[in-house]
Amino acid sequence: MNINWYPGHMKKTKESIQKSLTMVDVVFELIDARIPFSSQNPIIDSIVGEKPRIIILNKADLASNNGNKLWQEYFLNKGIKSLTMDALEGKGIDKLQQLSYEATEKRRLAYEKRGVINRPTRAMILGIPNVGKSTLINSLSGRKGAKTGNRPGVTKSNQWIKTKANLELLDTPGILWPKFEDKEVALNLAFTGAIKDEILDTETLALKLVERLAKYFPNLLNNRYNVELEGKSYLEVMENIGRKRGCIIKGGEIDYTKVSSILLDEFRKGIIGKITLEFPEE
Ligand code: G4P
Repeated sequence: MNINWYPGHMKKTKESIQKSLTMVDVVFELIDARIPFSSQNPIIDSIVGEKPRIIILNKADLASNNGNKLWQEYFLNKGIKSLTMDALEGKGIDKLQQLSYEATEKRRLAYEKRGVINRPTRAMILGIPNVGKSTLINSLSGRKGAKTGNRPGVTKSNQWIKTKANLELLDTPGILWPKFEDKEVALNLAFTGAIKDEILDTETLALKLVERLAKYFPNLLNNRYNVELEGKSYLEVMENIGRKRGCIIKGGEIDYTKVSSILLDEFRKGIIGKITLEFPEE
């Protein structure tokens, strides 16, 4: 989904989300475990305010184990609860339920004091497009396929979806705008498919991906495509991959469009490896 964000639009989204936040006890903030910094909304702290918040490093199945561990430590040091999740497979849901129970303890005790026990915990999901919000809602609710909340902000219907562990979820996630200003951030978002073909054409993007992989993950690139990296330009590496994968048009020329799609697709599906593109210390 492509949304064009304008300042007025962001302001409205923020207001509409903050209105919904008054109805929930805890926020589930989804980010992409491969690019936790780049996939965070730029003003998330001011949107969420004091509301208890749990950061979900989603798509953890596509990120490196070491990266997942370091990011969880990073958020722990900042005093924010976080966990890794594979929303497609529902891995991490038990932990999410446990953390939301812990995060809402103060409120629960206050209710219990007034004699109200077992009041469901209410939560809402927030995140930029494509981080897996609909997938998580479907996983938590046990329903399949329905694409929820295809609109920025939230709808007015405010239905509650019952899930296990006495947890209720607002049926429409809050769709936040991504960071735009930084070139590296935009590249990370484009590599992972969060913004599609918006900042660069596919071929330039794939060449940038080859550069990133050759610099930081040469072994993974070599294992997957069996290409020589030593003394080669990134374009030569890409051409070599194209040749090996039969991306040739008549006259023996490289089919750059085809090899670019293969590279981006295999990266996004985790076929090249479990790759985290940014780490906390950067
Ligand atoms: P959104 O509501 O936040 O916009 O995201 P959505 O759930 O639609 O998920 C975006 C894509 O990410 C989907 O792929 C979905 O299957 C995939 N996805 C979500 N969570 C996970 C996860 O934990 N692990 C993995 N590996 N994939 C996940 P898609 O249908 O192929 O869409 P697209 O990539 O073509 O946009």
